[in-house]
Amino acid sequence: MKNVTVTDHPLIQHKLSIMRDKDTGSKDFRELLTEIAMLMGYEVTKDLNLKDIEIETPMRKMKAKTLSGKKIAIVPILRAGIGMVDGLVSLIPAAKVGHVGLYRDPETLKPVEYYCKLPADIEEREILLVDPMLATGGSATAAIELLKEKGAKNIKLVNLVAAPEGIEEVHKYFPDIEIFVAAIDEKLNEHGYIVPGLGDAGDRLFGTK
Ligand code: PRP
Ligand code: URA
Repeated sequence: MKNVTVTDHPLIQHKLSIMRDKDTGSKDFRELLTEIAMLMGYEVTKDLNLKDIEIETPMRKMKAKTLSGKKIAIVPILRAGIGMVDGLVSLIPAAKVGHVGLYRDPETLKPVEYYCKLPADIEEREILLVDPMLATGGSATAAIELLKEKGAKNIKLVNLVAAPEGIEEVHKYFPDIEIFVAAIDEKLNEHGYIVPGLGDAGDRLFGTK
């Protein structure tokens, strides 16, 4: 699939299997999501630009690599996206964090926007839009639209589990958006849930059901 990267490192697959298990509680679910987000961050950031700087080690001067180019913003889609922020921020401590609040109407399955707060210089930043679940793709597509309205030019979508339908929906409107996922599951069920999936990510993360 074009512009889709499956980050299926063994550690990620192992941790994801524990998250999927219905008997895994919120504490472990939260910790595992943080760890996977960090591991996925390694792949997601692999094309960041570097420049040479001169530094001095205790032995001598040398030319060394340092990050250059665009600064990063991490933007979780509330609520469940919050669970992926800490892992990525620990890799990229200089990143700013914006928030987009969307929930999926249980009847229509359409996303409803209720919050948006982004870094003031969002148009200059490379954006990592994060949400564990990409189901119908409605929430991600609405979030990308919103970010583009605010001037965002460079967006990568980072999900834990995606349905093929969700990937197709995002790429129908935004074919150039790069999507990073840990797993592509079989399909959506009649309620718009990913199967086999892991259930409702927000509820499992925050213990609300
Ligand atoms: C979940 C999930 C995504 C969305 C995916 O959020 O975190 O944002 O559903 O579904 P979609 O691809 O069909 O739009 P939900 O709406 O349950 O809100 P929550 O995070 O507040 O629980
Ligand atoms: N949102 C979730 O949290 N899980 C799904 O399977 C689909 C949407």
